[in-house]
Amino acid sequence: MKLVHISDTHIVPAPSQLYGLDPRANLSAAIADIHANHADADLCVFTGDLVHWGDAEAYDALADVLAELKLPYVLMIGNHDDRARFQARFPDAPRDADGFVQGTLKTPMGTLVFLDTHDGTTHAGLYCETRRAWLARTLEGIEGDILLFAHHPPFPVGIGAMDAIALQEPDAFADVIRPHAQRIRHIFFGHLHRPISGSWLGIPFSVLRSQNHQVAMELRPTGRDVIGAWEQPAYAVALVTPEAVVVHMCEYLLGAGRFSLNADEGLGRAYALQMAGPQVALAAG
Ligand SMILES: [Fe+2]
Repeated sequence: MKLVHISDTHIVPAPSQLYGLDPRANLSAAIADIHANHADADLCVFTGDLVHWGDAEAYDALADVLAELKLPYVLMIGNHDDRARFQARFPDAPRDADGFVQGTLKTPMGTLVFLDTHDGTTHAGLYCETRRAWLARTLEGIEGDILLFAHHPPFPVGIGAMDAIALQEPDAFADVIRPHAQRIRHIFFGHLHRPISGSWLGIPFSVLRSQNHQVAMELRPTGRDVIGAWEQPAYAVALVTPEAVVVHMCEYLLGAGRFSLNADEGLGRAYALQMAGPQVALAAG
């Protein structure tokens, strides 16, 4: 099974830009790259912060760009979203009996579980008692393997200003997860706007870049100031087999030249010169 993981699209209505970037153009470029290279993917999952200001116009703009996407997809929300406006614009999105943007999807590689960690009063995440009860019931009812998707990670990653807006009450959340940790094969998070991987409660996880602005790799204290960075956006491609979950990061804006590593170094240069522009010619000189 091939999954495309996209996060933090932060769409703003045209003609607005965000931090000097155009999130609509970037998402459109990501979709074109997915069509060109991963048209065989089974599903795209968007792990929240679909829009930046939570406004209805931005959800309209998101719908316009998503109309280009030919693959099936699931939309989730993050701290920058507005649940009511999102649900009004995307009534087919996952929705549990309590009105949260949550649901499950059975696949040949296990059940995908989509969580709603939106709070609405702060950029930190919230997974309240009602949602925890839904998740406990849901996990209990699933037979076999599970892949989890959530916007907010429930643990610190060392970037202080982002750790301050991680999931609140992480211990209560962990209590729901722990009994099922053995069969949760992977957790896909958003929120951090950086490629980060590791494990939590023994469960492997991955986080990926935003489609717009990135968070700088800054582990020194910065107070409440989140340091941004104009690094490349990326989506992730997860290859899921019974034996492994492999997650690739795909930086789609660079359009870097390609060459064969099977050729000797001189030939590699020749290929590169043939295929790419002056930046490779400089390296060869
Ligand atoms: Fe975000």
